[in-house]
Amino acid sequence: MNVLVIGGGGAIGYWSARSLEAAGHHPVLYDLGFDTAEALGGAPMTKVQGDAADLQRLLDVAATHRIERIVHLAMIIDAESAPIMASRVAVQGLSAALETARARGIPRVVFASAKSAYGATFGGHRAPTYSPATEDTPRTPVGVYGAAKLLCEEIGRAYQARHGVSFVAFRFASTYGLGKDTGRHGSLSLGSLMVEGAVRGEPVRLPKGGDQRQDWVYYKDIGQAVVRACEAGDLRHQTFNIGSGIAASFAEFAACVRAEVAGADVQIGPGMNPFGTDYDAYWVLDIRRAREVLRYQPAYGTLALGIADYVREYRTRLEASRGR
Ligand SMILES: NC(=O)c1ccc[n+]([C@@H]2O[C@H](COP(=O)([O-])OP(=O)(O)OC[C@H]3O[C@@H](n4cnc5c(N)ncnc54)[C@H](O)[C@@H]3O)[C@@H](O)[C@H]2O)c1
Repeated sequence: MNVLVIGGGGAIGYWSARSLEAAGHHPVLYDLGFDTAEALGGAPMTKVQGDAADLQRLLDVAATHRIERIVHLAMIIDAESAPIMASRVAVQGLSAALETARARGIPRVVFASAKSAYGATFGGHRAPTYSPATEDTPRTPVGVYGAAKLLCEEIGRAYQARHGVSFVAFRFASTYGLGKDTGRHGSLSLGSLMVEGAVRGEPVRLPKGGDQRQDWVYYKDIGQAVVRACEAGDLRHQTFNIGSGIAASFAEFAACVRAEVAGADVQIGPGMNPFGTDYDAYWVLDIRRAREVLRYQPAYGTLALGIADYVREYRTRLEASRGR
């Protein structure tokens, strides 16, 4: 099927598109720019430049490319620094996607929400128990980013109820993988610093936070979830946690990098909260609903598997760029 991937120029867009291709579908990447997708390379994909909130453009693209599903991934990741722009991309962007679906008879819109919809961890969800959040765990977002995601989930729900457009929202755990090293993700890319620094043979020193555990999800598993949501028939749920369901620490991440890259000099100091945030948002997600309803089955469900693949992907590109 033809799938319009809005925000397809970004990291998750790239890997979702590759997963869609591998499953026999035809992704059409739609974005303001394609810097990440182009840096990640590979066989050319169909790309259309446009604004997520431009309804007329989306209507035209949907007709031209005979779009059958829409996946909305566009967002300003540093929403707290650009709240008006982020709200516009999220809320107006999703509304435009839903309107396009309604007008063009596209049966399903898949939306990238986030663990940030839950806000700060509380009670048994915090260390040391890390009790996994289910989709029904109370949502009390802390910033504009999480609040915009939650509002989008509600808009999607309303469209499904009112207009019959099937809506799926994915609450992603903490993501990692190739493509997360861009300026847009900034300091959220500790995993990329460790993996890519090690492969380049550089020492990596992170001062603190090694004991902090969280749920990590690899980009290719997100790609699988996107494929499942596009392919699924009628669904009895609209919201799905997408993660690994496992609590693993930043020190374990560093240890996996050392195990995978011979001679890697990657160290992270002890303690919690490596990002130094003023609230705790290190969630573990219960993924049973996605497993049961979507048949989502993480292929990289442990850090060892995901990091091994990430190292392979990064090495391939590094060697190509060095002309070997
Ligand atoms: N990376 C994570 O850790 C994470 C975790 C949870 C949820 N998410 C969500 O997943 C989605 C994809 O994230 P990502 O990691 O690929 O981020 P990304 O920044 O790599 O990709 C987002 C893309 O949206 C595009 N975009 C922004 N404004 C736009 C506009 N007006 N019109 C069209 N495109 C626009 C950007 O150009 C970018 O290519 C986002 O919605 C994000 O909030 C990401």
